[in-house]
This record gives sequence, C-alpha cells and structure tokens, in this order.
Amino acid sequence: MAWKVSLADIDFGVEEEEAVLRVVRSRWLSMGEETQCFEAEFAEFIGAKHTLAVTNATAALHLACIAANINPGDEVIVPSLTFVATANAVRYVGGVPIFADIESEDWLTISPTSIEKCISEKTRAIIVVHYAGYACDMPAIMEIAKKHNLIVIEDSAHTIGSELNGKKLGTWGHIGCYSFFSNKNMTTGEGGMLATNDDDLAGRLKVLRSHGMTSLSWDRHKGHAWTYDVVDLGYNYRIDEIRSAIGRVQLKKVGGFNQRREKLTHLYREMLSELVPEIKVPFQAGRGTSCYHIMPVLLPAGTNRFDFMEGMKAEGIQTSIHYPPIHHFKNYQDQPEFLRVDLALTETIGAREITLPLYPMMKDGDVEIVVTAIQNQIAKLK
Ligand SMILES: Cc1ncc(COP(=O)(O)O)c(C=O)c1O
Repeated sequence: MAWKVSLADIDFGVEEEEAVLRVVRSRWLSMGEETQCFEAEFAEFIGAKHTLAVTNATAALHLACIAANINPGDEVIVPSLTFVATANAVRYVGGVPIFADIESEDWLTISPTSIEKCISEKTRAIIVVHYAGYACDMPAIMEIAKKHNLIVIEDSAHTIGSELNGKKLGTWGHIGCYSFFSNKNMTTGEGGMLATNDDDLAGRLKVLRSHGMTSLSWDRHKGHAWTYDVVDLGYNYRIDEIRSAIGRVQLKKVGGFNQRREKLTHLYREMLSELVPEIKVPFQAGRGTSCYHIMPVLLPAGTNRFDFMEGMKAEGIQTSIHYPPIHHFKNYQDQPEFLRVDLALTETIGAREITLPLYPMMKDGDVEIVVTAIQNQIAKLK
C-alpha cells in the first residue's frame, strides 16, 4: 500500500552504505572489532558498565531471564500492555508471567501499586517496559524490588536515549534489553543490546550469548585462544559485523532523530488539543525525558477503533495499535494463573489506543495531514 503518511520510516544515508561496504571489504562478518566498538560506544551512550550486542531484544530478554535465574514455576511480573516478547521471554524459561495493570490513562506504564498486588512467595523478578519511550516509575519499582529481593529487567526496546533523573532508561534495573528492530529510534534491521552494571551478570550473559563457550572465533582468529570449554547451556544470539557497523552510524544520529521526534510530538499535541480535543494524548506531563519512540493517542470511549483506522487508511494514513493486551491472545487465554489482579485500565485504555505516524523524516505538514484526517474521522463517527 502506498501510504500518504506511513507509520514509521528509517533514515539511512551514505554513511550506513559505507559502513556495510567497510565490513564486506574487511572479510570478517561475525562478532569482531565492529561489534566491540558498537558495544563500547553504546555503553558510553547509556552510561552502563557492560553491554553485549545480540540478535534482537527478544534474545536479550530470554538471556536476561536465564541470568536472573528464573526457573520453572517462578513468577515474573510484567505488564500486559506491551509487545508479546516481554512475556514470552518468561515462558521460554518455564517461568509464569503475572500481568500487572498500567498506572493511568495519562501514563501507560506498569503500575507500582499493581506490581505490589501481584507479588507472591514465588515472585523472582519484574520486567518493566518503558512504553513509547516514557519512563516507568523506576524509583518506586526499585524500592519494591529491594524490599522483596527481586531482579528488575528493563525491556528498553522503546527507549534509546530516554532518561529519568539524569540516568538512561535501561540502566536503572539489573539488566536492560534494547531493540534495534527496523521501526525503532535507531535500527540495524534486526539487532539488540544487553546492558548491566553487574560484573557477574555480564559474565554469565556473555557466555550464554554464544553457546556457553569460553572463547569466540574472533579470539581464536586473533590468536588469543586455541580451544574452548562449554560451561553453560547457551545459545547462538550473536550479532554480525554488518549490523554492528550500521548500529555505530545510527548511534551517532539517534540524538538528532530523537530531537526531531520530540518536535513532531509537540506539534501533534498542540494541533490535537486545538482541533480535536476529543482525542486524549497521554504522557503530556510527568517524569523523565522521553526519546518519543511512538505517538500513542486515545480515541473517545465508545469509538469503533477499526472503523476509525479504516477511515484513516482511506485517507492514506497508516495507524497501528500498541498493543492488543497480551492476556487476550489465544496463546495466553487459557492460562488463568497469569491473571492475579484487576487489569481494568489495561482493558479500557488498551481498547481506545491508536498509534499515529512518527519518524524523524516526517514533515510538519505531514502532522497537519494526519490531524486533519483525524478531525474528518471524528466528525464522521459522531
Ligand atoms: C516492548 C518491546 N519488547 C520487545 C520487543 C522485541 O524486540 P526485537 O524485535 O528486537 O526482538 C519489541 C519489538 O518490537 C518491543 O516493542
């Protein structure tokens, strides 16, 4: 479909092309110097002691659950209003995801009050999601985790550049998991990064990323090792050099991308409040500095969301839903043990949310086109 305004778009230029060529010509394609540099540069960007590049954020979440010692039957508290990978990672290791509600219709991140209600003697960890790039209440969540001796994993797929109290999101908890999927604030196509300040966790994650092996092909290529031992049940979640090289270029650009996303978000907010005040825009006042990953808005209660999205499509505007709550999915439905607390806000807000186009190359005029289309649809559906 040729959209007039698509939901997301990448911003690649000659620098990314040159990075790919550099790797192809170097003749070393899997984890090597590019990956080491990417990890070091990303560590500096987020202010973390250790970073490990991986195939994607789902792999990062899986390894984080293993390193957090989530064993079969252990409970991990997660939001339901997130991408399914957040909860799937818990199930990969036999853990039980327990769904917590969100804070309010103004702030769609996991609620500390709801987290507390989910805790049982089987709870081992909390996975928070900084929805759309906006910060969860990390001081409150870290306090709860400390009180109950829980590991905190940050699903930071949306948060490349977001901060809270001067500290990058993804570095508040024990392990942060970032995504470089193609719709993210910086992309390598597929790709992800683990971050931690804990030396022991970093050591375990590093070994788990590559089959549990004590040395890599790169080490042997460099003459640093002749053989290896296998000390853990690991996986092949390694990134390749082409992605790392693209990641290094994108990392240099992401600050500028985020500034543009911020401007566009403010323009949306101004135009929506002036022209279509029926549309509610969450995350307007609150904590932290966002990287403005996506532009979620809430339709008036009772609006037929699919009619609305169809109407937007007819005007050439792509919209999306973030997210169908996980506990509604077929693969999650007949698992009553995942549901312990009331998810009233997840239900009502989840049913009203739509996501509007947002990407750095969008023009101010595109925002006007989207807002005019929203005005038309609201008038039609009244
Ligand atoms: C909140 C959230 N968690 C996890 C993921 C999984 O990321 P990846 O596609 O890199 O595996 C995504 C990707 O869209 C996401 O949005």
